[in-house]
Amino acid sequence: MPKPKLLDIPVIHDDRGSLSVVQWETMRFRINRVYILFDVRPLTTRGSHAHKSLEQLLIATSGSLEVELDDGQGWSHTFVLRDPSKALYIPPGFWRTLSSFSAGAVCLALASHEYDENDYIRDYDTFVEWKSE
Ligand code: TYD
Repeated sequence: MPKPKLLDIPVIHDDRGSLSVVQWETMRFRINRVYILFDVRPLTTRGSHAHKSLEQLLIATSGSLEVELDDGQGWSHTFVLRDPSKALYIPPGFWRTLSSFSAGAVCLALASHEYDENDYIRDYDTFVEWKSE
């Protein structure tokens, strides 16, 4: 089973600034959807769900946020995203909680599939049960 991982995104620096490039060698999947979290209200928590088959990369393109991942079987880890040269790979089957968004934080999400509510598990107990099947 694939594990969550903070991946390095290649960055091209020059006198004008920096440019980070996500391409196939960084991705673990073909991208079918891109969405952006922005204007997040102070102290807001987002996520609080798991996906059955969706894979994602999350990148803090501006500001910072925390992403707690929980496998429903005793493992959890909080990743801090604050660098556009890092992408958090989230495999299927992890409960995610996004919090501590800094003012003006923008999070880019690259997703393996189009939006499908049937792929979500939004109840934590159901998630733990599903993981133990
Ligand atoms: P949700 O995935 O619950 O957001 P978050 O995990 O950031 O808290 O989605 C919030 C709402 O937006 C929900 O009604 C579903 C809708 N939505 C789409 O229509 N398309 C999408 O690609 C996403 C990610 C969400």
